[in-house]
This record gives sequence, C-alpha cells and structure tokens, in this order.
Amino acid sequence: MSPEKNSVDRTIKRRISLAEMREYSLTPAIVAEDVLTSNKSVLLPHGTELASLVSSVDNLEMVLRRWGIFSIPIVIHNEVNVEELEKLLKAAETNLSIIDPQLARETIEQVENVYGRIAQGTCGPEDISHLAIQGRTLAKEVSSAPQVMLCLGKVRGWDEYTYVHSLNVALLGGFLANRLFPGQPEIVERLSMGGILHDLGKALVPKEVLNKPGPLTDEEFEIMKKHPVYGEELAVANGVDDKGVLAVIGGHHERYGGRGYPRGLEKDDIPMEARISAVADVFDALTAKRVYKEPMESRVAVSLMLENMSAHFDPVVVRALLVSIGLYPPGTAVELSDGSMGVVVGARDKDLLRPEVLLQIDHMGRKVEEMKIVDLSTTQSLFVQRSLHDVGKIAF
Ligand SMILES: [Fe+2]
Repeated sequence: MSPEKNSVDRTIKRRISLAEMREYSLTPAIVAEDVLTSNKSVLLPHGTELASLVSSVDNLEMVLRRWGIFSIPIVIHNEVNVEELEKLLKAAETNLSIIDPQLARETIEQVENVYGRIAQGTCGPEDISHLAIQGRTLAKEVSSAPQVMLCLGKVRGWDEYTYVHSLNVALLGGFLANRLFPGQPEIVERLSMGGILHDLGKALVPKEVLNKPGPLTDEEFEIMKKHPVYGEELAVANGVDDKGVLAVIGGHHERYGGRGYPRGLEKDDIPMEARISAVADVFDALTAKRVYKEPMESRVAVSLMLENMSAHFDPVVVRALLVSIGLYPPGTAVELSDGSMGVVVGARDKDLLRPEVLLQIDHMGRKVEEMKIVDLSTTQSLFVQRSLHDVGKIAF
C-alpha cells in the first residue's frame, strides 16, 4: 500500500530587484545563494530570511547598491496541502459541480441496494427498473454539462468502489455519447442507463474474487470474465429489453482489436454503445484511487489509452475523450508561468491549453485567501508552466 500523498512541494526561485525586497519580505522568501561583495566577502549569506534582513539591516537597499548589487536571488519553499485545495474546490462548488450531490449519493445507494438484492436472490424487475430510471435522470444532467466531471465519492470500502464506478461510467459514457451523437438523447440515455447497470453481474461473482487486491489467478479470472454475461442475463430476466443498454452490460469488456470478452468481437461488430462504455470503464478504473494504488493522472490515463487505442478502443471514442477532458482536466494542480499555483476548474473546448485556474498561491508565494479564478483564455500574459498532479475528481 502506498502512503497517502497529502501535499505537493513547490519552490519558487527567482532574482528580485532591490525595489521588490520589501514586498517579498512579506513572504517566506530566503536568500538562495551567498550574495558577495566585489572582494568576494559574503554580504548576505544564503539561507537568511529576507524578512529578518529587511527588518534588521538599516538601509539594506542602499548598502547593496553601494556594493554595485542591484538584484538578489531568493527562493520560496511552499508546501501545498492537497486537503486545502480540496476545501477550496468545495467552496467553489457552485461554479464546478454539475452532478447534484444528492443525486450522486442516491444513485450510489440504489446501486448498492440492488447489488445486495441480487446477491441474496431477492432482486426483482422493479429494482432494476428503478436503476434504469435513475440512469435517465443522469442522462439529463450529463446532456447539459459543458465539461466532464466525475464523482469524487469517498470510496470507503471495496464494495463502494463498484457503486461509485458504476455512477462514473454512466456519467462519462453519457457525456461521450452526447459529444459523439449530439441531438440524440436516446443514445445518451442508453449509455447512462447501461453505465449504471454495466457491472450488475459482479453481484454474482464471489466476493473473494471480486475484492482480491492482488492479481487474479487464471481460474479466478475465468470466473470474473463471466460478469458481463451474468449481468446481461439478470437484466433480461428483470425486464430490460433495450438492445443498446444490454450491449453496454454485455459488451463493455470487448476490445476493438478483438481478444476481449465474453465474445471476442472485433471493431464495428462490437455495438457502438459497448465501444463507448469500454472507454468510460477503463478511464474511470485507471483514474480511481484504490486501496492498492494511487489514482493515475487523467492525462496519463488518456495517453495510455491512446497508445493502446487500436487494440483496445475505438479511436473515435478515445479522441472524443481526449477532447472532452482537455490537457489540463479539472482537478489538476498546475503551476502558472508567473510562479502562482492553483487547481484547474474548467476549460473551454477550443482552448484546452488555457484553462480556468482557481488560485491558491499567488506569484509571490503567498496563500490566496479569497476565491480567485484566473481565466487563462482571457489572460494572455499567463500560461500553464507544468501540472503537479491530479488533486482528484471533482464533484460532491
Ligand atoms: Fe465490468
């Protein structure tokens, strides 16, 4: 198990003019290198706090100027606390969240309930139809969403992962369907309903196989590979007759280049709904935080999927995913060109390199207390220098 990563180290290193010293003395800046006089004696030793220099040396600026020194190198170390970033994100929820938290919670509970009933053998058509209706509600939410946002449900245990994952596959599948087939709400609905139901068959897979943290043995994998068929049968037996919904349940593990399961179909023989859900399924699995792994950064997940594209996924769907999440997907902690830092809260379709960033640390290394969102698409002087890592998926 890897340790929890709660903070991101960041260091601002720069040379400041003497006129800027007073301003920077309000930050935790320290002298980065020895500042020497012309005869090589140390005037300002490295590691000295700028604040104490400014307050203790009279006319510091004049002293330095006299030695022909007009700028000094400083460094500001900061630790960005990921929990603090998350708190900021929560505070900005009205700008960010597209998924009604109550709807998300309700959906997860319903999925959990139905799984329990299946395992006990008491699941009836009304249970499944409730879930399907929930899928329709999600489809409406997703259709009006400008940006992919998944559910950040705090996954408390093994079982809960499956439920949160079902919700995410419904959201992402629906979103991709909306992008690929605009103006065809029935396709979005099939993906959202199918997403909610896609792993239904897992309720019949023994818990010790389903929840095994390590790799499965060949025998266990054979059992696991039955879940799409179990799911399809359960859905049919409980009154689901939509071919697209059934295609998601039965076909989300088929691979574009063949070699998937359960049927080993290839390319366009795999129903389109199944091809979309396969992308949503793998993307969410890669970017999820699990007990045994840290979440993969969204961009890394997409590039991995692009590499394996023709073998595993329909290229058209992966491209739609790439365009949807952008290069700096929401939740990515980024450093801007002026040294300020924040977290991406959104991006426009046409300018994925210039997202909106919720600032947490300003260009001088000070914490930004008030809510400040910088829109890089309209602030041409700034750009993203680098991304630090995903803080997590945004929503409730
Ligand atoms: Fe599955």
